[in-house]
Amino acid sequence: MQTIRSMFNPKCSSDVRLDGKTAIVTGANTGIGKETAKDLAARGARVVLACRDMAKGEQAASEIMREMNGAKVVVRQLDLGDTKSICMFAENIYNTEKTLDYLINNAGVAICPYAKTVDGYEMQFGVNHLGHFFLTFLLLDLLKHSAPSRVINVSSTVYAMGKIQFDDLNGDKDYHPVRAYAQSKLANVLFTRELAKRTEAQGVMAFSVDPGIVNTEITRHIRRPLVDIAKIFSFLIRTPAEGASTTIYCIVTPENEMFTGGFYKNCARADSCRAGEDDGTALKLWAASCHLLGIRWR
Ligand SMILES: NC(=O)c1ccc[n+]([C@@H]2O[C@H](COP(=O)([O-])OP(=O)(O)OC[C@H]3O[C@@H](n4cnc5c(N)ncnc54)[C@H](OP(=O)(O)O)[C@@H]3O)[C@@H](O)[C@H]2O)c1
Repeated sequence: MQTIRSMFNPKCSSDVRLDGKTAIVTGANTGIGKETAKDLAARGARVVLACRDMAKGEQAASEIMREMNGAKVVVRQLDLGDTKSICMFAENIYNTEKTLDYLINNAGVAICPYAKTVDGYEMQFGVNHLGHFFLTFLLLDLLKHSAPSRVINVSSTVYAMGKIQFDDLNGDKDYHPVRAYAQSKLANVLFTRELAKRTEAQGVMAFSVDPGIVNTEITRHIRRPLVDIAKIFSFLIRTPAEGASTTIYCIVTPENEMFTGGFYKNCARADSCRAGEDDGTALKLWAASCHLLGIRWR
């Protein structure tokens, strides 16, 4: 069983150290984000746990510090569904961090009933895409200043089912939880492609990642019978640490072996499907996101 598991769940075997580096991980209080933060801290990085709920964040930080003597982790409040919170978070980062080497846009909400963010965007599009788009926009100067630096957007292979509904980005006319999730994950892939083009010359690389099927709290909105059926295929279901492997791979792999703008899974570059390579849609999404957020990002 262990051999079958390892066939389906490749691990990042690199022992690269990250002493002196600084990383931000969104949604770091649980699941894949917490394991990503733990791995980075074990490599010596200073890690900012960007969490919506400070109590949960402090709990995760205590766990990491208990497991690792001398781990450099701090918790900062960030609600990706609230642009004021994102602004305050970014301001705090500029006040406290001299450099930012890795921005890991990991937080996510999946397949939830229709809901809106504080700013009135549909929850999955608002948190998974717009929140991270805005956060990256605000932190880009620091990333450029710290170059070579990297942005990792945690997407999902579900993106291949996605379509960007430009006439109904917020699902006001027709909302389907799975469709909205797939749209948000496609947006992660398209944002990565466009960001990579715009920042390559300044030494900021960008990658999108599929963590695999991972046993986390992400299933909180998914109906019980479906979750139970999935357990039959338990050899395919990854632990949160295994789910963090491809993100870590995208951080520690040498620059000359990485393709900025690329989609990665199973600790390797993966073919992206046509929807994920549509540069016209990527550009249109960029413009629509700027318009919704009221920002100029050329
Ligand atoms: N698990 C999988 O099988 C799977 C597969 C493909 C892709 N992914 C992607 O992997 C990423 C991590 O998911 P996970 O599986 O680790 O899920 P998880 O255990 O549910 O963790 C999600 C994290 O995102 C945070 N979050 C949600 N809404 C937020 C907001 N408005 N502001 C700030 N943080 C917020 C959560 O905070 P709270 O604890 O406060 O809610 C939590 O820390 C997501 O982007 C997900 O789409 C997961």
